Amino acid sequence: MERVLVCFGTRPEAIKMAVLVKKMQEYNFVVSVCVTAQHREMLDQVLQLFDIKPDYDLNLMSPNQTLNTISSKIFSEMDKVLDDFKPDLVLVHGDTTTASICAWSAFNKQIKIGHVEAGLRTYNKYSPFPEELNRQIIGRIADFHFSPTITSKENLLKEGIHDSSIVVTGNTVIDSLFWTLENIDETKNKKIVELKDLIDFDKRIVLVTGHRRENFGDGIQNICQSLLKISNIDNTEIVFPVHLNPNIKEPVLDILSHKKNIKLIEPLDYESFIWLMKKAYLIITDSGGIQEEAPSLGKPVLVTRDTTERPEALQAGTVKLVGSNADKIFNEAAQLLQDSNKFDKMSNAHNPYGDGDACTKIVDFLIKK
Ligand code: UD1
Ligand code: UDP
Repeated sequence: MERVLVCFGTRPEAIKMAVLVKKMQEYNFVVSVCVTAQHREMLDQVLQLFDIKPDYDLNLMSPNQTLNTISSKIFSEMDKVLDDFKPDLVLVHGDTTTASICAWSAFNKQIKIGHVEAGLRTYNKYSPFPEELNRQIIGRIADFHFSPTITSKENLLKEGIHDSSIVVTGNTVIDSLFWTLENIDETKNKKIVELKDLIDFDKRIVLVTGHRRENFGDGIQNICQSLLKISNIDNTEIVFPVHLNPNIKEPVLDILSHKKNIKLIEPLDYESFIWLMKKAYLIITDSGGIQEEAPSLGKPVLVTRDTTERPEALQAGTVKLVGSNADKIFNEAAQLLQDSNKFDKMSNAHNPYGDGDACTKIVDFLIKK
């Protein structure tokens, strides 16, 4: 496996593949990076932080794109990339449209595929939608499966995937988190300087994000209503970096703009987001990556979803599912803000997603192939 094409397109894939790209470059792999730019600005923030210059930038994002348009655009561009670079292996990450279509495109040319963050499952095809099916499809197509946990490996074994093609690595997001924590320079990052002015850090910070399709419409409206109530709890400030998806951005700005202690801000670069996570008291999110990072920083997470493919975090007690019911979200948040025993239990749990050596394990495996 000498020539490796690493494909990604959205913010979380970039965060979770960045250290792997660097690690492969340190060894003697001929690595090429192809970004679909399914996300544009949010992807570029990550590329800049990790100083990754894509060899192929398909620049495909369009405003409020549909799953089928972005899929068809990726399909129609991938032949050129694969014919030009001629990889021995294509590496994709997780469950996005970019990941599934790039994997499928490589399969159509009988090129081997490695799947990073393999084996997460809810077995509910509409939750998360379309990610659950994207993962299952990549699971069928891939030749090598890098599972973050034993549970995710077991899911693959049950689906008939051979033991010898699965490696349990931990999640590469922890590698990126540690890399970023080591490299944060508060004085040089302009955004962090701005945040220090904007946010009242004497208050307890409730950090919020949201973007899932299952929460479009009523879900995000209910979440916003719960945030209005939470903002009335004493000594509390809500900070919400708002995803650029118009299905999220529009209702959030409509409902929450007028409150003084709710700070709605643009998506943050990864470095300043991690800095802000460290300062937060509590996190409310539907994000997958944040559920994996937060335990390393000792932050409790209320997950605004009904299902999860990350049962390890639930078992470890670091996250709690609260769905998108406004009363439920408010009650759980209020308890954590008012009951220190409950807060301590959730914030002191162990991180089940690894020790930050996932990329080394992946490279060690590929060297032998
Ligand atoms: C995508 C992934 C989801 C992942 C999420 C991470 C799919 C189907 N969904 O969802 O799995 O968890 O990214 O955030 O692959 N936009 C911008 N600028 C950006 C990014 C997005 O303007 O930098 C806007 C555009 O209008 C774009 C829209 O957001 O059309 C939606 O982007 P898309 O990638 O289709 O979906 P996400 O909801 O971001
Ligand atoms: N993140 C970021 N800036 C933000 C919000 C999140 O860099 O303003 C990071 C976060 O730390 C995590 C990743 O983005 O690593 C999660 O991305 P997202 O929630 O968009 O996608 P998911 O993880 O749900 O696929």
